[in-house]
Amino acid sequence: MTFDPIQTLPDAPAGYARAAKLLQTGKLVAFPTETVYGLGADARNDTAVARIFEAKGRPSFNPLIVHFVDADAVKQHVLWSEQAERLANAFWPGPLTLVLPKCGGSNISRLVTAGLDSLAVRMPAHPTARALLSVFDGPVAAPSANRSGQISPTQAGHVVNSLESRVDAVLDGGACEVGVESTIIGLVDKPVLLRPGGVTAEAISEVLGGPIAERKNADVISAPGQLSSHYAPNAGVRLNATEWRDGEARLGFGDVECDLNLSPHEDLVEAAARLFDYLHQLDAGDATTIAVSPIPHHGLGVAINDRLSRAAAPRQG
Ligand code: TXA
Ligand code: MG
Repeated sequence: MTFDPIQTLPDAPAGYARAAKLLQTGKLVAFPTETVYGLGADARNDTAVARIFEAKGRPSFNPLIVHFVDADAVKQHVLWSEQAERLANAFWPGPLTLVLPKCGGSNISRLVTAGLDSLAVRMPAHPTARALLSVFDGPVAAPSANRSGQISPTQAGHVVNSLESRVDAVLDGGACEVGVESTIIGLVDKPVLLRPGGVTAEAISEVLGGPIAERKNADVISAPGQLSSHYAPNAGVRLNATEWRDGEARLGFGDVECDLNLSPHEDLVEAAARLFDYLHQLDAGDATTIAVSPIPHHGLGVAINDRLSRAAAPRQG
């Protein structure tokens, strides 16, 4: 197989303009932050976000952090709080991510939050990231810019080696200073340290004026199904449906008659882009069961099947 050469974009206005243009057209652009290089996509574009998961080759969907140019832009998407204000004043721009309740009017893709009602937001300090976010003028979803299971990239060359032509362009801003990912603080309920990182727990406790609870398991959402807050439809889910039964809501894939079709032409990126939205839509109807066509178990189909089998698993409590 031959690969198109990846565009390496200069850390200069022409590079930011090109990168912003690529993001606007649904492409993936890797860019430096002060922590690690991020694999960026327009957070409002379902298909672009689906392509992040495809490029990383992760076998499941985990929620992504959305990067913003300033706190005002953040506030259009989350329910802001006094604690958020204090932490933002102290540490933004910088390596701190806040998880806050998503607000009703937000147009962030459901795939970004993997169906959760909360959103992880961050305002990076790296001048190149800030220049890109300012020119693009929109929210950028970005996990670390490496293939699943590989180490996080701190130089443009690492990104190219890991992702090859799965990324459309890399904005080369040199080496990242911090080298470890941002600290993640959950502010949905009581403040909780979800992932240790570039800002210490002590520094955060000091700003909040009290000790902060710690989650034992560092990367909490690495197993989304274990999270009680993770989106599960109210309706039951029946997988691998090759025929429909009376009264079921029908979620199709491929050339089938159904209520909503994840992808009539069997395109797995399109199916991933629609998955959470269509589950929500069918769940809002009267049916007590959502039946789903078989989804091929390769590429993004692995992550889609992972999510569907969690939705179909017997409920706890
Ligand atoms: O430094 C960083 O944060 C880098 C740079 C690129 O900004 N990004 C990064 O993203 O580390 P990623 O995708 O590798 O880590 C995202 C993690 C998820 O694994 C999950 O633990 C947490 O953020 N997360 C995202 N949304 C969440 C949510 N709504 N609730 C709880 N945790 C969330
Ligand atoms: Mg990562």
